[in-house]
Amino acid sequence: MPKLFEPINFKNVTLKNRITMSPMCMYSCTAQDGKLTPFHFTHYVSRAVGQTGLVMTEATAVLPEGRISPEDLGIWEDEHTSGLKELNRELHSYGSATAIQLAHAGRKARLDSKIYAPSAIPFNESSDTPEEMSSEDIKRTIVAFKDAARRSKESGFDIIEIHAAHGYLINQFLSPLTNKRSDEYGGSRENRYRFLSQIIDTIQTVWDGPLFVRISTDEYSEAGNSLEDMIYFAEQLNHQGVDLIDCSSGGVVPASINPYPGYQVKRCEAIKHKASISTGAVGLITSGIQAEEILQNDRADLVFIGRSLLRNPYWAKAAAEELGYSPEAPKQYERGWN
Ligand code: FNR
Repeated sequence: MPKLFEPINFKNVTLKNRITMSPMCMYSCTAQDGKLTPFHFTHYVSRAVGQTGLVMTEATAVLPEGRISPEDLGIWEDEHTSGLKELNRELHSYGSATAIQLAHAGRKARLDSKIYAPSAIPFNESSDTPEEMSSEDIKRTIVAFKDAARRSKESGFDIIEIHAAHGYLINQFLSPLTNKRSDEYGGSRENRYRFLSQIIDTIQTVWDGPLFVRISTDEYSEAGNSLEDMIYFAEQLNHQGVDLIDCSSGGVVPASINPYPGYQVKRCEAIKHKASISTGAVGLITSGIQAEEILQNDRADLVFIGRSLLRNPYWAKAAAEELGYSPEAPKQYERGWN
């Protein structure tokens, strides 16, 4: 059996294969209330029918002001759980494990309301200037992550991923490019890590399932965090009991990036081995053969598939065919699957 189709366990959760649907904002909450629409069901459930091992939601806001856009999914109030429960029931019925990506956009929120960040620095010339977060704002946001984790559990998710990448709020604390604070949340990398560390601690008071964290492993700026800083953060995440680091890159400051097949895998591999933690590789992974190479060479434990899964909900089936393997069929499709 190809490694791509070998099951893998994280704590009490078994993924039937190593294929993860990468979190992708769909900007489709038409009532701007953070609630799922019929589109979301079609979108996520079709990937579960397509035998994706782990279906992860798009960035889901822990506070309304933490949305990237008014159409983002949300989990900032208990009312959000009923739709998410139903989604989990559907996804599980096709054998997929489920994850929710918990997020706060910080200064990258494109909303009419006030926006917040560790320091009052806009992303670029056309962005609004955020308000520097007070220690009260920080406390309130940490509690919002905890409440969101409790709601994730009540909704039946198997895994939580914290979005600490792409220049959103947590990443804004981690990076010296965006964090100019002089209190205990800024300055040294120990201090810049404190916000994420406290979010993890508080989530763990209500959540004992697998916890993933997505980070931007490269900030594409000389003055940004280095690979060595990233390995330091990964070691801290490991000490805190995080189960997997999802290794993305970019988004912290405007930068030109030259993406090529597997362009983020090298850093993913370095973090996996230097910090002794499981990792997920993402970014222009498009074929079964490419995914199998990454897993067999022990460069990552999971592959996260984004745009290829948008193009083809049956990506898992196509990848299996490339590797000469027949994956299990959804029972309704058994007669026409292979
Ligand atoms: C994304 N990406 C993304 N990442 C994330 O952590 N949370 C998110 O909500 C989103 N939203 C999003 C929307 C859309 C439409 C795209 C295309 C991408 C990034 C995504 O998860 C992935 O990391 C990248 O797309 C790179 O992987 P692929 O697409 O090359 O497989």
